[in-house]
Amino acid sequence: MNVLLLGSGGREHALAWKIAASPLLTKLYASPGNPGIGRFAELVKLDIADHSTVAAFCQEKKIDLVVVGPEGPLVAGIADDLRAWGIRVFGPSKAAARLEGSKGFTKDLCAKFNIPTAAYGRFGDLAAAKAYVEKMGAPIVIKADGLAAGKGVTIGMKLEEALAALDACFDGAFGSAGAEVVVEEYLTGEEASFFCLCDGATALPFGTAQDHKRVGDGDTGPNTGGMGAYSPAPVMTPEMTERTMREIIEPTMRGMANLGAPFAGILFAGLMITDQGPKLIEYNTRFGDPECQVLMMRLKDDLLVLLNAAVDGQLAHMSVRWSDDAALTVVMAARGYPGTPEKGSVIRGLDEAASDGAEIFHAGTAINGGALVANGGRVLNVTATGATVGEAQKKAYGATDHIDWPQGFFRRDIGWRAVEREQTGK
Ligand code: AMP
Ligand code: GLY
Repeated sequence: MNVLLLGSGGREHALAWKIAASPLLTKLYASPGNPGIGRFAELVKLDIADHSTVAAFCQEKKIDLVVVGPEGPLVAGIADDLRAWGIRVFGPSKAAARLEGSKGFTKDLCAKFNIPTAAYGRFGDLAAAKAYVEKMGAPIVIKADGLAAGKGVTIGMKLEEALAALDACFDGAFGSAGAEVVVEEYLTGEEASFFCLCDGATALPFGTAQDHKRVGDGDTGPNTGGMGAYSPAPVMTPEMTERTMREIIEPTMRGMANLGAPFAGILFAGLMITDQGPKLIEYNTRFGDPECQVLMMRLKDDLLVLLNAAVDGQLAHMSVRWSDDAALTVVMAARGYPGTPEKGSVIRGLDEAASDGAEIFHAGTAINGGALVANGGRVLNVTATGATVGEAQKKAYGATDHIDWPQGFFRRDIGWRAVEREQTGK
């Protein structure tokens, strides 16, 4: 098979690494890709926003499958447009990607199909939103409705913070994504990322992970796209997984089919495991980044076979096997992230870092004058496996010691919750 992978981050590097291991693969192309992905794929410059250019490339290169990494193109309808050209695509339609593209859409779906989630209100004007926030009181959560690169959520621990977030949204801080807001109940519990491979009718559980969203050790500082992750998530016991499938995922699949927008692709449920059980925080309609990196390290089966089955509506006949090992990834970021990162600093030592069996996925790198340089906020994902999360953690941090990049930084405590559990046996 000839495959075209869209995207340029660590998630896409991990997907490329796994797709390249498939005996089904003839040739992998990636656009725009990155230097790490370039080891497995021919990198091509395509204007991904121009769907007919992508389609023409697919026809010319006889592409059998397009795998879409990030949410932007999905929400813009790339899967529909390529399918209209007869091209097979792994990724949801524009209508199904509303699960990520509109928080209000997902909240209304939850209400209609009785899916457990935080109580909420949807508002298109400031005065009504403020009145609701004042009535509900703090803590309370304010969310821009549309895509805001992970920055559209404010946890208002105090009323003033929540009101200020509403002002910012309606002042255009998130552009059109903030023209409407969702205000919701503050949930407490432990978070988990839960994935399902979906073909429109069947949802096949596809692994669990825990992310670390805050930039600093001890879960402090501003939110990021994710500073590290591990898999599996210990809170997702078989019982919790079964409840999540029954109470959240299956009603979502039925609900989306009912609305004429069956979901096919990867469904990523951000969950809060509360005292009452799992509640949906949000859906994403693509693999998590960096969650994908740890999932790919543990996946035993051929990813291309599974992606094909999802595209062909054959998941009811499939199963997935995972390594018993845990996997953990540490995100190395450029100074300044999650604000404006410094670009262009030289990174050395990756071969030494990988020599003990760690996988170093590139997330935001470029080649400049023959040297590997930082070219984004999240730059490298240093990833390892081990019999326990603690072992994987030790191996991943051991590998970071070999990376010579003074302008980079990373959290020192990725996996702390699971490691603490392993040590105390609770
Ligand atoms: P989101 O972009 O929706 O994933 O939100 C970012 C982060 O905000 C989540 O990972 C949670 O940590 C937190 N969050 C979002 N919604 C809620 C909620 N209703 N209650 C508590 N925390 C939340
Ligand atoms: N790591 C969280 C996300 O991909 O949305």
